[in-house]
Amino acid sequence: MNLLIIGGTRFLGRHLAEAALARGHDLTLFHRGQTGVDLFPEARRILGDRRTDLDRLADGHWDAVIDTCGYRPAEVRAACRALNGRVGHYSFISTISVYAEGLPAPIEEDAPVRRLADADPDVVELTGETYGALKTACEEALTAGFPGPKAMIRPGLIVGPHDPTDRFSYWPWRIDQGGAYVVPADPDCPVQVIDARDLAGWTLDLVESGRAGTFNAVGPHDPLTLGQLLQACRDMARTPGAPVELPEARLLDLGVSPFTDLPLWLPKERQDFSRVSHRKALAAGLTFRPLEQTLADTLAWARLELAGRPQRAGLTAEREAGLLGEGRIVGRMQRHG
Ligand SMILES: NC(=O)c1ccc[n+]([C@@H]2O[C@H](COP(=O)([O-])OP(=O)(O)OC[C@H]3O[C@@H](n4cnc5c(N)ncnc54)[C@H](OP(=O)(O)O)[C@@H]3O)[C@@H](O)[C@H]2O)c1
Repeated sequence: MNLLIIGGTRFLGRHLAEAALARGHDLTLFHRGQTGVDLFPEARRILGDRRTDLDRLADGHWDAVIDTCGYRPAEVRAACRALNGRVGHYSFISTISVYAEGLPAPIEEDAPVRRLADADPDVVELTGETYGALKTACEEALTAGFPGPKAMIRPGLIVGPHDPTDRFSYWPWRIDQGGAYVVPADPDCPVQVIDARDLAGWTLDLVESGRAGTFNAVGPHDPLTLGQLLQACRDMARTPGAPVELPEARLLDLGVSPFTDLPLWLPKERQDFSRVSHRKALAAGLTFRPLEQTLADTLAWARLELAGRPQRAGLTAEREAGLLGEGRIVGRMQRHG
């Protein structure tokens, strides 16, 4: 196929581009040139900012476009205008953050979504608070602006090598460092993640079959808990280390931020957000590699990456040292204990 990716050089997009080339597709990348300019020399590259330079796509025709970096409806409307009649299928990478707060599990694709109350979605600041509602507005812009078949893909936390956020990578990397480390005293906390490579491969499957629809994209296949994930990290760590537990109330009292300071952990009242349904995506062919493979590849990547820059999520060494005295050592863990 003749494919266009808007983005395609950082994380999910990078895996999409790699998979598309491996499948023999003709690939065009449209991005600003701020990341990954040396990647994929075999792809056609059109540099430009989607907010101002979409006219640079004016003489192309593609079987499909995959839009990885739409954050405001005006960006999506402009892409629809620029590409209408010149692409056959439009895939938009959205997010499960579109869902309204406090929904009961499991969250299906027809659940209520977030909307901005009075603010103009093309002007309001993009923050963690507005991100979900802005993605809702982007989905609506695509529905209104692109008459052909379209797939709205709503991933949960995307993980694996090249993840610029460190939210998942923190755990295998930190546990691999050894010593005492802080864990939430809630091993049953549910965790949903999707390996970027599984998401990329399945997105291409949807594109190749011309499939339309809205799909949650979360893994793994079977329910996973934080306790199981941390044990899998210990199983592959160089040294066993010593987890030090702090209960939810104490963590919150001490100002530890769920999901960023201690990635993947959510307080009990928000845990339904990690129980999103993947029923529809499974029926559409989504499959998952083993968690151990995702962890091993992520750890190999993070050992190199985090040797060269500060971590972007998880407790810093200084913060961790301050918290360790507050907790309860739950035993020097055995590799398979
Ligand atoms: N990470 C997660 O856990 C997660 C979870 C759910 C959903 N998502 C969604 O997944 C998507 C994928 O994110 P990603 O970082 O992995 O994507 P990506 O496609 O790998 O990286 C972003 C790409 O967009 C390009 N770009 C950014 N702004 C641009 C602009 N104004 N004009 C043209 N190109 C632009 C960047 O290249 P240049 O810098 O060179 O322009 C880069 O190639 C996002 O839409 C995000 O909302 C992510």
